[in-house]
Amino acid sequence: MDLDELVAECEHAVGEHDPRLAVRTVLERAVRDRRLIDALATAAGGVNVLHNGADLTVLNVVWPPLISLFPHDHRMWAAIGIYGGQEDNTFYRRQGPRLVAVGGKALAVGEVLLLGDDAIHSVQNPTRSYTGAIHVYGGDFIGIERSQWDADTLEERPYDLDAVRGEFARAEQQFNATRE
Ligand SMILES: [Fe+2]
Repeated sequence: MDLDELVAECEHAVGEHDPRLAVRTVLERAVRDRRLIDALATAAGGVNVLHNGADLTVLNVVWPPLISLFPHDHRMWAAIGIYGGQEDNTFYRRQGPRLVAVGGKALAVGEVLLLGDDAIHSVQNPTRSYTGAIHVYGGDFIGIERSQWDADTLEERPYDLDAVRGEFARAEQQFNATRE
């Protein structure tokens, strides 16, 4: 499939009886599709928006080497499929005003993870190469209000996509500096 077909298949899946399971089926095929992977892999490091609408957002997330992104929530279901590298997820739950870590999941190439509406996670790329992931969300992931937590203090604050993009840029700069 190509990028347009990926988005079209996700749009169709969102109309199914169980959108999350239908999207998982799409992603399980997508992360093994050589033509699609080649197209996704041409993107630069960062959050690349393939589609953003009221019911569906599809991202091509290219994680720089060794990045660690602070905890955040989505407030909608999500599906993550890995087409290159590795993505480590740490999960949290609220405990009063704080977050506590409650587990994790390391995702390798070809794996697909479903997350519920109430998921809070942080993401690490533990490898010294880029990780490529298709992230699908059951809503307007860009537009809605949600939360992120400071990586050190775990203090809650409004989600800020510019801060996310800043973390990606910082990780790329740090990695490039270690190679000079
Ligand atoms: Fe996330």
